[in-house]
Amino acid sequence: MNDDIPVARRQTTRVARDQSPVLSWRSGLSLGLGFVLFALLLWVGWGHLGLLSSPEGADSVPAEAPSELPFPWPTPTSQEERVSVLGHFAYAEAPLESLQVVGTYHGREIRLRQAAAESYRRMSEAAQAAGIRLVPISGFRSIAEQEFLFFQLAQSRALRPQERATASAPPGYSEHHTGYAIDIGDAEFPQFDTEEKFETTPAFQWLARNAARFGFELSFPRGNPQGVSYEPWHWRFVGDRDSLETFYTR
Ligand code: DAL
Ligand code: ZN
Repeated sequence: MNDDIPVARRQTTRVARDQSPVLSWRSGLSLGLGFVLFALLLWVGWGHLGLLSSPEGADSVPAEAPSELPFPWPTPTSQEERVSVLGHFAYAEAPLESLQVVGTYHGREIRLRQAAAESYRRMSEAAQAAGIRLVPISGFRSIAEQEFLFFQLAQSRALRPQERATASAPPGYSEHHTGYAIDIGDAEFPQFDTEEKFETTPAFQWLARNAARFGFELSFPRGNPQGVSYEPWHWRFVGDRDSLETFYTR
């Protein structure tokens, strides 16, 4: 089969054919190693010079994180920062035109701010459907009314302001000024109106389970941070933006 090719040329051809792959394999390997080495040196050199890091050196956190966070940081509001007297916070009087009658107590009209009044009526109907009659005892109170309650009653009962303040707020500092607070009784247990024993009534137990569904919460539970004595009858509406901001921010 090789007889048509001269021996010398055959030899050369064989050598050339044998050497060619060897040379190609070696040069390919050196070329590859050289390239890898070069790339490695380049990478180490750049890294050393800080050329691979971002200009801020913030390559360990997502680049977009700082711009998404608010700056300057908002200052958290705390109850300590709110204006208070003997543990009670200052409140503005609700505008009279915002008030609606939710019932009467010993012939006096009990009024709440519109959103609270509407929700109270719904809550009262739901309680009635469960066989419980809620009694609205006191709703909105003006600063003048609170002045009478706080000072006249304190004097008639020979109470010092500190003693009186555990049970009643000084004028200008009552939740009742807001039109969002209401004292509630149980029609079956009038003897427990504004008494701690109100907590033993079906009305209180129903409220404890259901008031939140209507946006009402107990203002002064046992051990409240304001140091006001426990008032199971005193509830406040926090079911809309204005009422929530009234009680939770300054
Ligand atoms: N009765 C509570 C303390 C108030 O008037 O805010
Ligand atoms: Zn009250």
